Amino acid sequence: MNDSLSFEPPKAGSVVGQPVNRIDGLAKVTGQARYAAEYDLPGLTYAALKTSTIAKGRITRIDATAALREPGVLAVLTHENLPKMAQTPNTLAGKYAIYGMHMGYMPMTGDEIFYAAQPVAVVVADTFERATQAAALVQVTYEEARPVASYQSAQAEVFDPNGQGFVFDLKKVTRGNPQAALAASPVQVKATYVHAINHHNPMEPGATIAHWEGPDRVTVYDSTQAVAMSQQSLAVVLGLPQEQVRVITKFIGGGFGCKFNLWPHTVLATLAAKAVGRPVKLVLTRQLMFTSLGHREDQEQTITLGATQEGKLTTLIHEKTSTTSPWDIFAEPNAAILNWLYACPNYESSHRVARANVMTSTYMRAPGESPGSFAIECGLDELAAKLNLDPLEIRLRNYADLDSGTGQPWSSKGLKECYRRGAELFGWSKRSRQPGVTRDGQLLVGWGMATASYPVRPAQGRARVRLYADGHALVQTSATDLGTGTYTIITQVAADGLGLPMDRVRFELGDSTLPTAPASGSSVAAATVSSSVHLAIQDVWQRLAAMAVRDSQSPLFKAPLTDLTNEQDRLVLRKDPSKGESFAALLQRQGLTDIEGVGNSKSGEGFEADQLAFDNKPGTKQTKRSMYSFGVHFCEVKVDPDLGTVRVSRWVSVMDGGRILNPKTARSQIIGGAIMGIGSALMEATNRDEYFARYTNADLAGYHVPINADIPDMTVEFVDGHDPYVNAMGVKGIGEVAMVGSVAAVANAVYHATGKRVRSLPIIPSKVL
Ligand code: MOS
Repeated sequence: MNDSLSFEPPKAGSVVGQPVNRIDGLAKVTGQARYAAEYDLPGLTYAALKTSTIAKGRITRIDATAALREPGVLAVLTHENLPKMAQTPNTLAGKYAIYGMHMGYMPMTGDEIFYAAQPVAVVVADTFERATQAAALVQVTYEEARPVASYQSAQAEVFDPNGQGFVFDLKKVTRGNPQAALAASPVQVKATYVHAINHHNPMEPGATIAHWEGPDRVTVYDSTQAVAMSQQSLAVVLGLPQEQVRVITKFIGGGFGCKFNLWPHTVLATLAAKAVGRPVKLVLTRQLMFTSLGHREDQEQTITLGATQEGKLTTLIHEKTSTTSPWDIFAEPNAAILNWLYACPNYESSHRVARANVMTSTYMRAPGESPGSFAIECGLDELAAKLNLDPLEIRLRNYADLDSGTGQPWSSKGLKECYRRGAELFGWSKRSRQPGVTRDGQLLVGWGMATASYPVRPAQGRARVRLYADGHALVQTSATDLGTGTYTIITQVAADGLGLPMDRVRFELGDSTLPTAPASGSSVAAATVSSSVHLAIQDVWQRLAAMAVRDSQSPLFKAPLTDLTNEQDRLVLRKDPSKGESFAALLQRQGLTDIEGVGNSKSGEGFEADQLAFDNKPGTKQTKRSMYSFGVHFCEVKVDPDLGTVRVSRWVSVMDGGRILNPKTARSQIIGGAIMGIGSALMEATNRDEYFARYTNADLAGYHVPINADIPDMTVEFVDGHDPYVNAMGVKGIGEVAMVGSVAAVANAVYHATGKRVRSLPIIPSKVL
């Protein structure tokens, strides 16, 4: 793309920024939206997984005779007859080659059992019921060993990963002299916070339909947040050129991180389809969702704060211990957020992990930032209480004007305005300093707050826009819509850029044959996809402009390109917008039915270097910026002192996410994240039995998530902001920052209500009493 023309991102008054209803809403509520498991292919067959009853040991015998005698059974696949894979993650080379496969061990590649409910057989039959029945008849004999259940178990060997870690680098980080600064600090707080195992539990389970269209060409309908990465990873596993693997995900019923990467069930369904020569559908049961797509790891964090009498942080030391699997070193990087959230001259963070007989944990909404903020935001609250300072005041006293980790300026930081507006909406100034004294009848009332922040992670992606002379447009990219509104916001961006009503724009996503987009994860989708579509539209206008100035019949004939801009659907002279013509008139005269443009966007770090021409003035050194979304949550709880029950009764979130493309879908993101935090704070926990290393509540009857009755009406506002340093659209992202701090806001409110500091999640009645 040349930069001789500069078309502005949509202005105020445009459809971008309006609370438009989800355009896919009708398709969803009328059942027309097709999810991964809903493609009714000819000859479709059904797979059921048989999983291990032990958590450690090996299979000594597996007998499929009885299962194979059942009517309709087409195949029973075990480690003895599973089709060979070109590459597995079982080796380090394989792990790096299949980058998008999160788990470093592929089940059914050997007789070893590493975790409970590990797949040991895949049964394929002509109906789901027959497959399930036959799976029950597969006889498996094990040699059982005593498993390790978690880092807390006596058998666990806890070690320092020392920079290892497949996804995150878990090095010890030190700035300044934290120990000496601590010794010299007049005020100190040290506390350990325990985070339970959490599972994502999206409404739609993991689901795959694999369809081989020949010996070396496969289409996979999969519930994944990342079609391009799944395509790439599956191609490596199957030993096929990427182009011969197609991944389709048109609608997703939630993911929260558990559908970010490729997991074994998708590979098994694809191999099973190859084995039976027919399309295979595999839908995970709710129970299997607890052992198939990762979880948020069980973990504890010790935070040590040193401060002055005025409450200014002098040192911050963070130590984390968590559970990982037998073959991976995965730990959420909780510490990272502590390095930038507040100004603090001395800092140290370290991780320790223990191998246990569990499957690999994974990303879950704000992986690292959410549990990390639980520790620092509660720790700071404890410090404030010790100093008899207001919790908001202590945050202002430690406000980071620069990123303490890197010393860089922020690309934008509306946090002070979030604090001010949030406090005003909540009525924070009326908070009693003393805990345990405010009552509503019999109930104790508590107010808590916490800061939120999440990085604008580097990402890039492409989009294609085809504008037709008859006045409609097709916009395409391989992005996904988790249910959060990608379809809607991108249609808004395209409609504005092309000067068309939204119903003349069709936005197509979720297919690996379309231009490559990043995953819906790490809060990069809205930022990257809106920017690539915006740039693709600029490309269209530039091509149109180049045509117009060469066309002697155009009113813009011989106009300098830099004098042109677009106004709605017309190409016009910047200085005299009455002079110009519509794209339709120009295309028709040129004898063209349509015109195509492509956009290649970068978001986060790469953007500054590549696309921010005005910050690169000759003679001035380009300043590197730290790029983050920010926000604050305020929470009121009411606690029954006799029963220990905690109810959230009021909630206010104010967020700085850069440009907000659609305040309605954005609000849903924020309340969704905050509700996940309320769940994590008050009720969500997966219990792993210490002896058998099995989950004892692996269903939605035993794993409690908040329901409507648990949640009050919530107030959400955004501080206005276009961040010019992050990407072409100025969008910073809101999906993950929504959850950051929300757990601590609840925990701090419980402290304020009761005077009792519960440092172990979830805060269930027995801990409150
Ligand atoms: Mo997000 S945890 O990267 O889906």
